[in-house]
Order: sequence, then C-alpha cells, then structure tokens
Amino acid sequence: MDIAQIYDQLVADHFDEDLFQIYQDAREQSLAQIRDREPATAPSILDLGMGTGEWLLKLVGAFPQAACHGVELSEKMIAVARRKFAERGREVKIIHEDANRFGKHVAAATMDLVTVHFVLNYIDRKRVMAEAFRCLKPGGLLSVASSTHDCFAALHELGKQFLSAEEIKAQFFIPEDLGELEADLKEAGFAVARGEVFQKKVRFEDFDHFYHFAMHSGWLADPIFLKYMSQENLSLYREVGKAVFPMEDSFQAAIVLAEKPR
Ligand SMILES: C[S@@+](CC[C@H](N)C(=O)[O-])C[C@H]1O[C@@H](n2cnc3c(N)ncnc32)[C@H](O)[C@@H]1O
Repeated sequence: MDIAQIYDQLVADHFDEDLFQIYQDAREQSLAQIRDREPATAPSILDLGMGTGEWLLKLVGAFPQAACHGVELSEKMIAVARRKFAERGREVKIIHEDANRFGKHVAAATMDLVTVHFVLNYIDRKRVMAEAFRCLKPGGLLSVASSTHDCFAALHELGKQFLSAEEIKAQFFIPEDLGELEADLKEAGFAVARGEVFQKKVRFEDFDHFYHFAMHSGWLADPIFLKYMSQENLSLYREVGKAVFPMEDSFQAAIVLAEKPR
C-alpha cells in the first residue's frame, strides 16, 4: 500500500478522533502564532496535506472571509473533508494532488498564508518551502508544524527491537529539531517570525491502546511500519507488550511561523 491507500483504507474514517488531542492542541498553538501577526481580514489560504479539513475549518472560523484551498493526496481524506465543508457551508477549492507538485496549480505571489502541518515526513520539504515562497505574496506567512526526532522517544527505543537501522533512519525524514526547521526556512528565503516547541505527554495503557492511537492518528501510516503489523505479529506484540505497557511517552513537534520578506 502507498501513503494515499493507507490513509484511504486505514486512517480516514478515524482521523478526527484525535485521541490525546494532539492535533487539536497543535492547531491552537499555530493559530495563536498566526493571529499575532494580524494577517489580512480576507486572506487567501492554501493548506498542503489538508487531511480531513479540520485545520482549514479552524482557520475559516478565525478568518470567515478567507478564500481557502486544500491540497491532499488521499481521496478518502478529501471525501471526509468535503462532507464537513458542505455541512458547515464553507467553500474550499480542493486540489487532489501530491503536495510535492502543488506549485503547478498556484500562481506566483497569490497567497497570504500557506500551511503545512504534520506532512513533512511525506514530502521533500526544501522543494515545498521553495514553492511556498514563490506562491506567497510579499509579507505572506508560512505556518509549519512537524514532529521532530525526539517525538515518541520511548516508542522509538522499543521499535529498535523490531526495525532495522535503515528502517529507523527512514522515519527521520522530518526535521531533527526546531533549529533545523528554522534553518531550512531561512535557507528558502523566509524570516522566522515565531518558533516554538510543542509537547504533549501521552500514556499508552497496553499495546492495543497504542495500536489504536497510532493507526487512527496516522502515526503508523507508513509502509515500513505496516509491514510489521500482520495479525501474527500483533499477537506477539500483545504478549511482549504485557511487560512494557503501560508506557508514558511524549509527542514532540516544532511549530513555526515564517514570513516572506516584503
Ligand atoms: C497526519 S495527516 C495531517 C493532516 C492535516 N494537515 C492536519 O494537520 O490535520 C497527513 C495528511 O497528509 C496527506 N499526505 C501524505 N502525503 C502527501 C503528499 N505527498 N501530498 C499531499 N498530501 C499528502 C495524508 O493523506 C494525510 O491526509
């Protein structure tokens, strides 16, 4: 299964459960950063990897006159988002596309705000930052939220017992930390307006609690992980897990607002 199929088949119907409210709280933090910069009252907004549209809906709540655009690869995530936009009477231009190629759909210097939240593990971030820079108006904002290498450190330690060094390395396509994300943004021409660490403590009661969370939040939405999740393996993990769970861990992310210089 590729990423779009994984989100279609395993994640889309459950994504909005947001166990532990990680996405919800991260959105609050991002929105506070954006509000502080007092953007235009009717901004043109483009969200890359919009998922089920929750973040765009939050943005239109804050900026009711916004013109919204969402790029997304998974048809099922789009279907869930489309239903919610219709229910709330919000018009959103949906672009069914790989975020790596969103630039061909968006003219230069037309956006006031581009956002890319919890998608950097799937895309070429330097390429996408360069395209976002092109699409933004001078003074336009780029909001980025991404997990970092220290995210779920305890789970990663556990994963080392099952995954090869190569497979572990493949999970670290995301920025190492806030500093690396900010450095990438500066290299793309942006000025960093605000950078913050987002942290949320979690507690997994047993293996199934973890599995439920990871599948539904998209955290296991990766062909490498799924390879290890056969029914046979799940029984083994349940057994091994009795000695490991309950387990406390911490979700770590970097939340940055950057500005295209005027
Ligand atoms: C963890 S979810 C985050 C969704 C949303 N940004 C949010 O914060 O609620 C990741 C989303 O990115 C989408 N995605 C993954 N790779 C993508 C790509 N190359 N282009 C566009 N969307 C992608 C997935 O289908 C999924 O909807």
